[in-house]
Amino acid sequence: MGIMIPIASGKGGVGKSVLAANLGVALAELGKTVVLADLDLGGANLHTILGLKNRHAGIGNLVHRTESKIEALVVETGIPKLFFIPGDVLLPGTANLDYSMKRKIIKGLSALPSDFVLMDLGAGSSYNTIDFFLSSFSGLIVTVPEVTSILNAYSFLKTALFRGLFRSFPPRGPERKMITDFASRRMEGTEESFMTLEGRLLESFPATAEAAIAQLGTIYPRVVLNMGRSSRDLAVGARLRDISSRNLGIKIEYIGFAPRDEAVPRSVLERRPVLVARPDSPFAATVRAIARRLADPAAASAASAPRLYMDNEDLVAVAEEGLATTAGQDEFPEDPRDTSA
Ligand SMILES: Nc1ncnc2c1ncn2[C@@H]1O[C@H](COP(=O)(O)OP(=O)(O)OP(=O)(O)O)[C@@H](O)[C@H]1O
Ligand SMILES: [Mg+2]
Repeated sequence: MGIMIPIASGKGGVGKSVLAANLGVALAELGKTVVLADLDLGGANLHTILGLKNRHAGIGNLVHRTESKIEALVVETGIPKLFFIPGDVLLPGTANLDYSMKRKIIKGLSALPSDFVLMDLGAGSSYNTIDFFLSSFSGLIVTVPEVTSILNAYSFLKTALFRGLFRSFPPRGPERKMITDFASRRMEGTEESFMTLEGRLLESFPATAEAAIAQLGTIYPRVVLNMGRSSRDLAVGARLRDISSRNLGIKIEYIGFAPRDEAVPRSVLERRPVLVARPDSPFAATVRAIARRLADPAAASAASAPRLYMDNEDLVAVAEEGLATTAGQDEFPEDPRDTSA
C-alpha cells in the first residue's frame, strides 16, 4: 500500500504536472518506489514531461473497460523505481466518472505495491478532481504567488471541505440535506461561514456530526508555492494560510517554495524531468527538499486515508456552481491589489 499524494490546484498552468514528475524522480532517488498516475483526464500530458511515447493504455482504457486491472497500466519510465500510469490520451472522453469507477481507481492505486502514489490532477474543482484529492487528507495544492491563484486555491479547498463534509454522511440523510440547503443559501448572499454550518450540524445531529467533523478537522493540505520570485511572495502565501484557518477552520502547511527557474521550461521543451536534465538547478533543489519532507516517516504517518462515503449523490448542481463562483471573494478581506508584486 502506497502513500497517496494527490496534486491539485485551483488555477491551471501553475506547475502541477512538472512538480508531480519531478517529485516522482526525487522520491525514487531517495530509494522509494513511486507510481505517477496521470489523472488529469481530458488534459493528460504527464507522459510528455517524462519524455515517454504516448502508446500505452491508461486510465481511459480502464474507464472504457478495454482494460480491467489498474496493475496492467503500469509502465516503466527509464528511471529506476519510478513507474507511470498514463491518463486518457489514447482513449479520451472520460470527463465525468461515476462513483464506482472513481472508487475502483482510488482503491486500485492504493493497493499497488509502491511506497508512494503521486496523482497529477486536472485544475479546478470538478467532482472528479475533488474526489481524487479527498483520497488523502494531506494532498498537495500548488499555487503561484498571485492573488487570483491564491483565491482559486482557497476556493478549491473550500469546495473540497464541503464535499468532504457531505461525503462524511450517509446518502439521502438529513445531514446531507442541511449541507445542500446551506450551500444554496450561501448563493443568495448570506455571510455564514463553513464553521457556522459545522456548528448547526453538531447541534442538530450530535450523534453523527461529531465524528464527521472531528475527522474533517484532521484535513491537512500541504501547499507548494511555485514560480516565486522574491521573499515578498511568501507573504502572499501566508494569506492563504490565514483565511483558511479563519474561514474554514483548517490548518495548511507550506511544504515548499519553488522559484521561477528557466531550467523548468527548458527541460519541458526537451521532454526530460528537470531533476535529470538540470539536477543542479534551484528548482531541482527545492523539489528534492519537498521529497525529503514527504518521505519523512512522521509526515508519512500523518497522511492517513479518510473514511468517506463514495456514492452517487452529489451536492445539487446549483449549489456546486454557487460554491465554485462565489467562493473566495466575499471572504478575502484585504485589497488584492497590494499583493501583486
Ligand atoms: N518553477 C517554474 N519556473 C518556470 N516555469 C515553470 C515553473 N513551474 C512550471 N513552469 C512552467 O509552467 C508551465 C505549466 O506547467 P505545468 O504543465 O506543470 O502546469 P499544470 O498546473 O500541470 O497545468 P495544467 O493545469 O494545464 O495541467 C510549463 O510549461 C512549465 O515550463
Ligand atoms: Mg498538468
